[in-house]
Amino acid sequence: MAELIVALDVPSKSAVAETLRRLGDAVDFYKIGLELFSAEGPDVVRMVKDAGKRVFLDLKLHDIPRTVERAVRSIAGLGVDLTTIHASGGAAMIRAAAGAAAEAGANAPKIIAVTMLTSLDEADLADLGIGRAMAAQVEALGRLTIGNGADGIVCSPKEVAAMNRALVPLAEERPVVFVTPGVRPAGAAVGDQKRVATPAGAVRDGATHLVVGRPILEAADPVAAARAIRAEMASACC
Ligand code: C5P
Repeated sequence: MAELIVALDVPSKSAVAETLRRLGDAVDFYKIGLELFSAEGPDVVRMVKDAGKRVFLDLKLHDIPRTVERAVRSIAGLGVDLTTIHASGGAAMIRAAAGAAAEAGANAPKIIAVTMLTSLDEADLADLGIGRAMAAQVEALGRLTIGNGADGIVCSPKEVAAMNRALVPLAEERPVVFVTPGVRPAGAAVGDQKRVATPAGAVRDGATHLVVGRPILEAADPVAAARAIRAEMASACC
């Protein structure tokens, strides 16, 4: 069953408290990103965990393996459920992150890699000295991620079917996590997202976790919006 993760794209702990209060039982998994973590630090992770929620800590780590290993150990200590690295940090960095997470045993955070940021296009690839096309680069980094023991990738809902086909066989029996932002219920405002899919479409294509922000946080009735998305996800599943 795919999971709904609500993006806490808010600036402060007080705004988080208000969001948790408004959404109540309708949401049990939240994403904390760089803006909120830079403002409030590990305290905000503890606050969301103490409210009984699961946390996706999206810091996109990219550094030498030893530093990433130590950072993941600290993240695991916070009881985080999912966390992100950049696959372009390379095989040794991915293995270091996966190894550090595994030390946490049953409470290990899942290590999810970003392949190529969706803000980059083919011209940026050329500037970076990468000769292959975007789709091939994304798939190569996905293979590097799974081949070195990480748990999954972040990808657009438009890529998720192809990435399932490429990565699930590589993982053998291990489940692969596919986190997809850019999800919009039919009729919702698209905002600045360029490549969107409906919740049902993303789940049918193999997404395991959907990250949704504005369609819930900016809805007139956020609880109803979250429930409607979960119902749509459930209807597409299994
Ligand atoms: O408001 P919206 O549903 O567009 O929020 C999506 C969330 O997913 C935001 O926190 C955004 O930063 C994140 N995200 C994204 N696209 C990516 C990676 C992350 O929208 N490629």
